[in-house]
Amino acid sequence: MAKLAINGGTPVIKQGTIKAWPPVDEIDHKMVLAALDGGSHAFGPDCKAFQEEFAAYTGNKYAIFTNSGTAALHMCVVASGISAGDQVIVTSYSWSSSATCILHHNAIPVFVDIDYATMNMDVNKIEALITPKTKAIIAVNLHGLTCDFDALRKIATKYNLKLIEDSCQGHGAKFHGVNTGKLGDCAAFSFNQNKCLCSGEGGMFVTDNEEMYKKALQLWSFGETATPLESRDYHSYALGWMYRGNNLTAAFGRAQLSKMGRYFETLQQNAAVLSAKLAGIKGNIAPIQPEGYLHNWYNYTNRVDMAAIGWTGKPAIARDAIMKALQAEGVPVGIWQRFILPNMTVFKAKNAYGGGCPWSCPFANGFGEKVVYDPAAFPVAQKHCDTHFGMTVPLRAPNGPEIAEMVGDAFQKVYDNLSELKELN
Ligand SMILES: Cc1ncc(COP(=O)(O)O)c(C=O)c1O
Repeated sequence: MAKLAINGGTPVIKQGTIKAWPPVDEIDHKMVLAALDGGSHAFGPDCKAFQEEFAAYTGNKYAIFTNSGTAALHMCVVASGISAGDQVIVTSYSWSSSATCILHHNAIPVFVDIDYATMNMDVNKIEALITPKTKAIIAVNLHGLTCDFDALRKIATKYNLKLIEDSCQGHGAKFHGVNTGKLGDCAAFSFNQNKCLCSGEGGMFVTDNEEMYKKALQLWSFGETATPLESRDYHSYALGWMYRGNNLTAAFGRAQLSKMGRYFETLQQNAAVLSAKLAGIKGNIAPIQPEGYLHNWYNYTNRVDMAAIGWTGKPAIARDAIMKALQAEGVPVGIWQRFILPNMTVFKAKNAYGGGCPWSCPFANGFGEKVVYDPAAFPVAQKHCDTHFGMTVPLRAPNGPEIAEMVGDAFQKVYDNLSELKELN
């Protein structure tokens, strides 16, 4: 029996073997330095070019470069015509701003439990949540696997709802051949450091709908109607924020976008190698790619099968022990979110803007107060939360399949030697 590294054995992966994300080369240097020397540092020509290139990448007519994915999500909410007291259905397990973007416009998030196999919103539980105040669904393509957009489109059409894609993690993924960014009525992407397309920080709003584009544009820059590269009258025609991206960031994003095809192939190859290695490991539930879906493997998220390892205690204890053992073997796994969304204080305490807004807003017509954030109503999301850990960097370029092999070996070693983990005895 190999001694686990957590107990003093030799780690499978030596420190320094896994290379950082994103790779930076002469293309990045050249484009960022050209932007720096170009003298236009606010919203400038690289921003405009990035918008055009990203719109072409997703296949959308319109794209707006933002300073974050959260800003782009807020723009989606506004572009969808959502206003005070309206309700928006969103998954109960995601990044906080998948749901706080709804509060940003004084509307009310209504959570739906997840499907354990895909980790995405359970489309079979949505219709029961619809009220006369429901205006939209935010479909989060979590960890790079899209939601079931056939089912979502049917519901959206039946109840006249807007379909918003939170594709902050969804770059390059597809649903039945259709790109993320084209699956809903509008979409938000993030370009923070960890994302499959990195510009440092930043985001993009995309749509094919001119009216939605115009609404998003207005919110993006002080409620004005003209973009910073056009003639502006500096007049606020509506409530606006300052969500514009800047030129240096756009230049970095453009350089990275020019290499996205290669990065995506690497991710696909590495994920295939790892999935094959993990297939026979009893106790580990590897992520799935259902037929018709193209995963981008943004976050390769595993779950511990408690029954298979014979654990009857609190799931998080076993999960933490296994995760720490993997970390000691040199695999950078981590817990992505420790809280399901309805268990976050901003929702549980309904403390958003204060004064009861938006839940007791008169425009909520009494429906807002009926929305209760009881974590117990989301058992599947909680189970996922307590059993998962994921990884991003090991499967990304410049890391190749040999790293995926090593990661697989480390999983095998840990699962073969669970009896060595003191927490499990
Ligand atoms: C699913 C999801 N939605 C929204 C966001 C917010 O993106 P950003 O950090 O660029 O605001 C993120 C990432 O942080 C995310 O993973």
